[in-house]
Amino acid sequence: MLKINLGSIIQSILWVIDPFFYTKKSPAVIHSIMFLRKIKIIAAFMFVTTGFHAFSQNMVTIPIETRENALVMQTDKDNHLAIIYFGRKLSLAAEYQSIPIQTRQQDGNSGIYNSAYTPSGTWNVSEPALQVTHADGNKSLDLVYISHKTSKENDNVSTISILLKDPVYPVEVTLFYKIYSNENVIEQWSVIHSEEKSALTLQKYASANLYFIAKDYYLTHYNGTWAREMQPEEEQLTAGIRVLDSKLGTRANLFQPPSFLLSFDKPATETEGKVLLGTLAWSGNFRTDFEVDSYHNLRLISGINNYASEYPLASKQDFKTPSFIYTYSENGKGDASRNLHNWARKYRILDGEGSRLTLLNNWEATYFDFNEEKLSALFKDGKKLGVDLFLLDDGWFANKYPRNDDHAGLGDWQENIKKLPNGIGHLVKEATSAGIKFGIWVEPEMVNPKSELYEKHPDWVIKQPARPEHYMRNQLPLDLSNPEVQTFVFGVLDKLFTENPNIAYIKWDCNAITFNAYSAYLEKSKQKQSQLYVDYVRGLYKVLEKLRAKYPKIPMMLCSGGGGRVDYEALKYFTEFWPSDNTDPMERIFMQWEYSYFFPALAQSNHVTDWGKQPLKFRTDVAMMGKLGYDIVVSHLNEKDLKFSQQAVYTYNSIKDVIWHGDLFRLVDPKKNDYAALMFNSKDKKRAVLFSYLVNNRYASGSDVPFKLQGLDPVKKYKVKELNLYPDSKTSIKEDQTYSGDYLMTIGFNPVVSTRRTSVIVEITTVD
Ligand code: GLA
Repeated sequence: MLKINLGSIIQSILWVIDPFFYTKKSPAVIHSIMFLRKIKIIAAFMFVTTGFHAFSQNMVTIPIETRENALVMQTDKDNHLAIIYFGRKLSLAAEYQSIPIQTRQQDGNSGIYNSAYTPSGTWNVSEPALQVTHADGNKSLDLVYISHKTSKENDNVSTISILLKDPVYPVEVTLFYKIYSNENVIEQWSVIHSEEKSALTLQKYASANLYFIAKDYYLTHYNGTWAREMQPEEEQLTAGIRVLDSKLGTRANLFQPPSFLLSFDKPATETEGKVLLGTLAWSGNFRTDFEVDSYHNLRLISGINNYASEYPLASKQDFKTPSFIYTYSENGKGDASRNLHNWARKYRILDGEGSRLTLLNNWEATYFDFNEEKLSALFKDGKKLGVDLFLLDDGWFANKYPRNDDHAGLGDWQENIKKLPNGIGHLVKEATSAGIKFGIWVEPEMVNPKSELYEKHPDWVIKQPARPEHYMRNQLPLDLSNPEVQTFVFGVLDKLFTENPNIAYIKWDCNAITFNAYSAYLEKSKQKQSQLYVDYVRGLYKVLEKLRAKYPKIPMMLCSGGGGRVDYEALKYFTEFWPSDNTDPMERIFMQWEYSYFFPALAQSNHVTDWGKQPLKFRTDVAMMGKLGYDIVVSHLNEKDLKFSQQAVYTYNSIKDVIWHGDLFRLVDPKKNDYAALMFNSKDKKRAVLFSYLVNNRYASGSDVPFKLQGLDPVKKYKVKELNLYPDSKTSIKEDQTYSGDYLMTIGFNPVVSTRRTSVIVEITTVD
């Protein structure tokens, strides 16, 4: 608000009396005019400085800036910290402090909605980020700004931490904003600390609280279930609270992942519009609130789901929330997701800038029915195909209750002596002599009631003591809040690796959600049952942490009966994830498209299987848009299919670097067109690979006209070449033609997708 100040009073008087002097021209008068003008300049200066000072009096302004964007917070007269801006950054950082003078949304609710971390039970009455019950039973909390500091990791990465305190109770919160400047990514979390005499209870404890001011808000969120992961829906947010959440515990994302797109003003396209991509890095129950408030501004609060999860915070202890990760772009979804990919590869995903192994998996080839002889033949098949690794799936373990289907054996991680009398060691040796690496499937967090583990340790299992058990896939989760169970789960992997140091890959599965949440361990150790959902995930991270300390490099696939658990905390420990058991390429075109907003291609495992009705070429082309694998019976391939597949692996090896480490441009959306198209470009713009697929089989559907390519160098000349042709088929693409990048991005290119050419891969390379 504008305040009257000395400078402005003097200046106003001078402006009023100044014209009177112009009519009289005596030297004394002219002298007076000059004198008055000098005073005017000084007054103007005072106006500017004292005027600004009035706005900023005692106010602290904290800009959190990336290369292009800014999130700006400011304290008010009572030292409450509020978000005053989110968007493209200003060139003059000093001007952030005067952003609020333009806002007229100030009435009795002033300052409630835009809190940087909304406390509850005092003056603040909107949906809280933090809600507590103090040790004395009081439920009020206020947070005022105390201080902030910046710590720099390197030229690109720095963290701003802001300390807030309750003036009455000894509770403090530190908000952390880790800035990845070039990638325009912010990783945000908070640490809650109490000095109360005894434990207080955290009722809600969000990671992030944001505030946006725009004309309208469009949220794209995802729903799904097994084999139907990542089904998008875009909706305009209206007044009130829209919640995205999970209460499933293990396999938390089965129905909904913690990732979303949020467009401002109007729905963003791939190349235009303001859009935020957000996701919570937490492998358990999450909750994100989107509240359109009474000013039509948007409040966002994201964190662990507080559902059934009141958490005690002991005296002098910290509670660290998981990270909420987001990027913002004013150039559409494509730019935003490339930023996130760059960040994920460089800073998050294990070995994100490294390489990946192509593989042959036996799950759909054999299911549980295999023995040493069969597997040895498959090793040879893998070698024949040309992939790097053979992955032995479910069914290799348990003896008293052999794992011959999904009803028994989970938990008993000893080789089944009937199927594998010579153990895993023998298989690793056999694979090695066949010239292929060996990897193995585990599901160490789970147990079948029909198992020795269950018989021995019923108290390790999550289940209600006095209620019937309730299963998903005939199994139950082990209680990872229990340190003994953590040791057991670590031991499953540790034993495999120590006994078989040449194991080169792990597929880590998790096939059941958490029913009947109850922990015998928490009960026995006099802790609260409401800790279970949180402590489970923390227990899981402890195991993964320990595992990575000992085995830092071994690639591991994060699988959860498909894509039931994919997030950026787990991906600190995993090199890749399994998006869905549904490998029908038609479905995968859509699913992989949606996953690609959040995760780079090198982290997506795509396998060629027998799902779907499309020809082998189509299935292979779709699987190539990520990390390629196979789950087929190689010996069943006819001569041409085998030849094609061998060439495909070879071709894939020649383009995988661009797919894994390049920039992704989604060009033609399969949801809105007869076909899909997307391309991966090398960072130096010298090479690109274009994928396109027909997704509608109606008469005459296909690419009649060219579509515009993106991300090329306009002045460079490119040649195009169709890749991965099926043996004896001919391309309709003219390979002797060269095009400028300008032509390809302005006029476009037509890969001639049609009912006769349902999938086309084109390599685009510069002409030297
Ligand atoms: C899950 C996985 C599959 C396979 C089976 C094995 O469903 O998603 O890929 O590993 O388990 O039981």
